[in-house]
Amino acid sequence: MLSFYGRKIPRKAKGFQIDNLRRSNFFFNDGKKLEFLKKQILKFSNLNLEIGFGGGENIIFQATSNKKEFFLACDPFLKGSLKLKKRIDSLKLKNILLTDLDFHKLSDYLEGLFFEKIYILFPDPWPKKKHKKRRLINDRFINLIGNISKRNTKIVISTDNKDYLNQILYCFHKMKEFRLCCNYFNEFLMQHMKIPQTSYFKKAQKLRNKSYFVLFEKLN
Ligand SMILES: C[S@@+](CC[C@H](N)C(=O)[O-])C[C@H]1O[C@@H](n2cnc3c(N)ncnc32)[C@H](O)[C@@H]1O
Repeated sequence: MLSFYGRKIPRKAKGFQIDNLRRSNFFFNDGKKLEFLKKQILKFSNLNLEIGFGGGENIIFQATSNKKEFFLACDPFLKGSLKLKKRIDSLKLKNILLTDLDFHKLSDYLEGLFFEKIYILFPDPWPKKKHKKRRLINDRFINLIGNISKRNTKIVISTDNKDYLNQILYCFHKMKEFRLCCNYFNEFLMQHMKIPQTSYFKKAQKLRNKSYFVLFEKLN
């Protein structure tokens, strides 16, 4: 079954831009580079992951505000990585690694890595009934997340699609490995976890859609 649906290379991207990106130290599109880098990554005491980083607003904010933590982020659509190249180079960030591997492929290389925080902000909602099976967050996905989480790992998820929110709550509830953290929801959770307004948050605001933010914590 496919786990990413959509365009990977932006229409206006030039071949040399993609080559430059692939040569960057902060980027990989073959898990072997991640295997190679694992020793260095493990020198950081806190590892964090963002799945579907889009324009990178959150990952860049987190990596610049927490230089002692490491941030791995995946998104198969190259637009964000191409846009972020200049930014990461000029900020000289050493604690960030981006990939265009989709999460399922990336997870094959994550053995031995356990994340403190996992961000999944506005995963594609696939609102049409016939497309719901394309949604990223399902039972299989939560199992994979369980493998790379440890006790108290925090999973932050946002969506502006109520039906997807219900699916997310139900799938996590069934798994019993995580608990829904009831102290913080929505804007309080955004503040608590210091999550900036991403492109899709702003898009939802423009459409006057309510954005929901939920937090799950791994139990054991
Ligand atoms: C609606 S956008 C949200 C982007 C960003 N998080 C935000 O809040 O603005 C969803 C993103 O998830 C990415 N995505 C879709 N399937 C994915 C997968 N299997 N693994 C990783 N990223 C994926 C898409 O390419 C897209 O950039």
